[in-house]
Amino acid sequence: MLIDSHCHVLSSEYDNPDEIIKNAFLRGVNKIIINGYDLESSKEAVMLANRYDNVYAAVGVGPEEVNEVQEEVILEISCLADNKKVVAIGEIGLDYYWTDETKEKQKDVFAKMLKIAKEKKLPVIVHNREATKDVLEMLKDAKATGIMHCFSGSTDTAKELIKMGFLIGVGGVVTFKNAKKLVNVVKEISIDNISLETDSPYLTPEPYRGTKNDPSKVILVAEKIASLKGIDKSEVINKTGVAVASKFDL
Ligand code: NI
Repeated sequence: MLIDSHCHVLSSEYDNPDEIIKNAFLRGVNKIIINGYDLESSKEAVMLANRYDNVYAAVGVGPEEVNEVQEEVILEISCLADNKKVVAIGEIGLDYYWTDETKEKQKDVFAKMLKIAKEKKLPVIVHNREATKDVLEMLKDAKATGIMHCFSGSTDTAKELIKMGFLIGVGGVVTFKNAKKLVNVVKEISIDNISLETDSPYLTPEPYRGTKNDPSKVILVAEKIASLKGIDKSEVINKTGVAVASKFDL
């Protein structure tokens, strides 16, 4: 089963998200998880998920959107999480790359998102940039499980996350020329612990880097992983599909 476990197919990014979704299914994608990153995008992800059998939603407030977050927003996310097509709390996490000025606010919102996940017994889809120590600590405290989206860490960190029950999210970056570190991680860990993703509209795989990404391109990620691990493309598709479908109850 070919699954794009992380994308943002939303009207803020595309003129016609429905067209993007239908095209992905026509091109062999079986299931898509659309991730919100704030209240508006989370609402739209749920709406789209309810329109298609094989589209699911993750709802949450991400680290870049924490400044305006009030208690009502947290409550609304919690209500959205009760929708039957919501399979995860995401995209949530910490990002100290651009600024760590909002560090405390980010941690506060992340903790509240992890609490919702725990209450609703949902896995999480986590964004981490330059914040590995804090992210791991908070995930462990919350006993959370799910996907570490767009993994960019070391093999040791990947193995630690796998022990905690996380899948390692691998997307278009693995096809880039400078992806040595990620290539090594992919070679070192089992295919059963990897989830495929696009992060559309971002991080378009080669040879389309520089153009707008969409979930149909997840096949290019599967092909690259197959060649790196010396296994068949169908094995990558089947095993990552089983891993994601069982983790998120798809
Ligand atoms: Ni994302």
